[in-house]
Amino acid sequence: MSKNIGLFGLGVVGSGYYQITQKIQQFIPKKVVVKDPHKPRALQVAQLAYEADYILEDETIDLILELISDADEAHHIVSNALEKGINVISANKKLIAENLKELLELQQKHGSKLLYEASVAAGIPIIEVLETHYALEPISKISGILNGSSNFILTKIFEEGISYQEALTEAQKLGYVEANPYLDVSGSDAASKLSILSLHAFGAIIHPDNILKLGIEDISHEAVDLAKSHDAVIKLIATATVQEQAIHAFVLPTFLPKTHELAQVAYEYNGIEITSDYQGEQFYKGKGAGSYATGASVLSDVKKLALGKGYAYNKYLQAKNLHHETSSHIDIYLSSSNETIISKLGIQTREFIRNEEGIQLIGKVSLQSLLENQKAIENNAIFIANISQELAHLSIDRLGEKVLVQR
Ligand SMILES: NC(=O)c1ccc[n+]([C@@H]2O[C@H](COP(=O)([O-])OP(=O)(O)OC[C@H]3O[C@@H](n4cnc5c(N)ncnc54)[C@H](OP(=O)(O)O)[C@@H]3O)[C@@H](O)[C@H]2O)c1
Repeated sequence: MSKNIGLFGLGVVGSGYYQITQKIQQFIPKKVVVKDPHKPRALQVAQLAYEADYILEDETIDLILELISDADEAHHIVSNALEKGINVISANKKLIAENLKELLELQQKHGSKLLYEASVAAGIPIIEVLETHYALEPISKISGILNGSSNFILTKIFEEGISYQEALTEAQKLGYVEANPYLDVSGSDAASKLSILSLHAFGAIIHPDNILKLGIEDISHEAVDLAKSHDAVIKLIATATVQEQAIHAFVLPTFLPKTHELAQVAYEYNGIEITSDYQGEQFYKGKGAGSYATGASVLSDVKKLALGKGYAYNKYLQAKNLHHETSSHIDIYLSSSNETIISKLGIQTREFIRNEEGIQLIGKVSLQSLLENQKAIENNAIFIANISQELAHLSIDRLGEKVLVQR
């Protein structure tokens, strides 16, 4: 049982953890390291320092909590601790997703354990569920809202009719957005989480850079109006499916009917749907961000380690020849005021409208083409959303303008 905990970071997650441990008088960190010596701090912490070695070089420390916002420094802290055989808990999905293989090897080689429940969907114990409840059952699909900030923004846009910029400002004021909002709204954060979930659900290691991700920054009022006219909403959905030995993984804004379970996940909440061979579809919902939700998730990992538990990585150890597949086609809606790169995407267009505000279209495109043109799509402020199967009938024809292509 860990007696001497070293905590890195006293921000949203770290302070949540610290305050909870003070309330329950268990697992209170012995030492804390942060970055900025000049920052005023609401929390009174006796053993506070600004150098990583204050914890890393202390041989009495037997558990490290890495809850900082700097992924490179986090990498240094986590690998250093695992190499010394010290158990680590981290909330840093970027660090974990980008270094899954290395982190697995370090644990194996040095007999240390790394837990990271708070890194995905904060309050939903989804990694625990995948590791234990689904340990022996094949999963064919995992799909969800994994980024609370972008879900907050989309909910505000749909429910209050405010602009993307106004909704983002409000999310920032409430502390729901990472220091760099791009990570949240571009789909990058959700892609890192999808990468971690793919390891535990399917045993696949997919680097987040190889996951197609398009964000919500360029959501147009036409797209919002179109969704509303079809009793639908747009959500940022991360999806990974396995068919035979192929995994299809992507993060895309998605049109969903209002009645869909994921459509009803609002504000900073996250929701995850799992489809498996024997249990069919199950749905998990919970707080995706926030000080206490993440702090409590870290605390549950501390308790697991105290009970001698770690991840068994069953699916990873059993997985055979899984490969990441990008050749499949999906139905999309696109809106843009700039037509320059659209012809490059190879879209099989079903409906197309051009007016003074730009173009809108509905069609089919390959994941590979979107992946290859991801940066250009982002740089040219093109909004692309996946159309869920339930909304296969989605039509811009209803907008009362001249539809140029209709097959
Ligand atoms: N916020 C959430 O709801 C949430 C949810 C799930 C996962 N996470 C993840 O949890 C981690 C922490 O997020 P957060 O929201 O708590 O961040 P935050 O509020 O910005 O706080 C970051 C903390 O890290 C410290 N820090 C930054 N760089 C450091 C360095 N080089 N050495 C030592 N300390 C350093 C900061 O020190 P100072 O106080 O001196 O600035 C601060 O205390 C991130 O990986 C994030 O992705 C966050």
